[in-house]
Amino acid sequence: MLSNQGRNGGKRKSLHGHWSSRMAFILAVTGSAVGLGNIWKFPYIAGQNGGGAFVLVYLLCVVLIGMPVMMSEILIGRRGRRNPIATMELLGKEEGSSGHWRWVGLIGVLAGILILSYYSVIAGWVLVYIVKSAQGAFVGADSDTVSAIFAGFTGNWLSVTFSHTVFMALTVFVVARGVERGLEQAVRFMVPALLVLMLTLLAYSINSGHFMEGVDFMFTPAWDKLGWGSVLAALGQAFFTLSIGMGAIMAYGAYLPEDTSIMGASGAVVVADTCIAILAGLVIFPLVFANGLDPAEGAGLVFHTLPLAFGKMAGGVIFSTLFFILLAFAAWTSALGLVEPAVAWLVEQFGRTRSQAAVIVGSLIWLAGMGSVLSFNVLADVSFLAGTIFDNVDYLTSNIMLPLGGLLITIFAGWVMCRNSTADELGGAGTTYKMWRVLARFLAPIGILIVLFNAI
Ligand code: PFF
Repeated sequence: MLSNQGRNGGKRKSLHGHWSSRMAFILAVTGSAVGLGNIWKFPYIAGQNGGGAFVLVYLLCVVLIGMPVMMSEILIGRRGRRNPIATMELLGKEEGSSGHWRWVGLIGVLAGILILSYYSVIAGWVLVYIVKSAQGAFVGADSDTVSAIFAGFTGNWLSVTFSHTVFMALTVFVVARGVERGLEQAVRFMVPALLVLMLTLLAYSINSGHFMEGVDFMFTPAWDKLGWGSVLAALGQAFFTLSIGMGAIMAYGAYLPEDTSIMGASGAVVVADTCIAILAGLVIFPLVFANGLDPAEGAGLVFHTLPLAFGKMAGGVIFSTLFFILLAFAAWTSALGLVEPAVAWLVEQFGRTRSQAAVIVGSLIWLAGMGSVLSFNVLADVSFLAGTIFDNVDYLTSNIMLPLGGLLITIFAGWVMCRNSTADELGGAGTTYKMWRVLARFLAPIGILIVLFNAI
């Protein structure tokens, strides 16, 4: 996937080479963006926040804040061509500000580690659901049976630890071996296949008799129910689902050839990611209403609704197994983005080999993940601030660290970097550039600040 023949026009080169094509970059970023955030998290967060109004705020956040942040991250990454910490330090000095901007990279590395600590636990559930689907556990099952299967599994801390361990091992293995080429192929196949399966599920949910109820729930805004807490959740979800605010996209941008349009690549990723999330909502909510479930039931929502649908479908065993395999792949390609900043940093800064770095970071994440493993069983009743340990790590990362990272990234790209540098990366000073600059200098940072200020 990375080659050393990227056109550099005499500029800085990445130590790791460059993407072989624009498509390779788009696939890698899409692989990072499309994951559990779209299919597992979006429906349950939307459900907990009352649907309609939340979804519209989320879409606004994606377009007005997510898009300029993503473009800023890529352009910073490409200009610095190092790991996010070194890049922020280098550009901070080069642009006449300070090397302290490296702290933005450091917050990002930490956010990636914390996010993967619980992401891996949920991805572990997906692995277990592949096996359960293949065994036919959901065939003809009613809602109570599916709930009992979920509760039985997540209630057993040893099983959850085991699946979390397997997922982390898979992630470390790929990062260590650097078999990106294989993963690029996986994404090339995975995203379209996931789309086809989601469309199959959509056909099913349209026929569930409750489709319009689901559509209504998702798109009819009840503004009076929308508090600042939900607006922050929408902003956090926009950051999470696009993988922005923590340097993952910056790390990928470091390998981007000079002649690739940052605007075009960002647009393609944002559209693909948003479509998959909306599609997931259109599948899940009609099923929720058709089965008399609660849209606000939380993290188990997808593991409750989808097996029910698969259980009643002809060929459900095959569809269900395939679906969870694809979801596991989607989670896997996202996990790589979450560790890349930390691994690239250990390699460049401390001279570690990629394998050593992957094992060190992976072990740390595995250990931190035990807090989330126990949140669903042994420590389920331990509640503080936002809820269980899992809830707190999720809240801290999605709702605080990522928006804060995004805020600093847009301020850096919009205010610290000079016009010439950013115009150079974004391909001239035309209308697109002007639009990006207004969003990155004013709308995005002010928007993030208002939401953070009011919600906390
Ligand atoms: N965007 C991923 C998802 O929606 O599942 C999660 C994620 C991956 C967040 C990579 C951040 C990141 F760097």
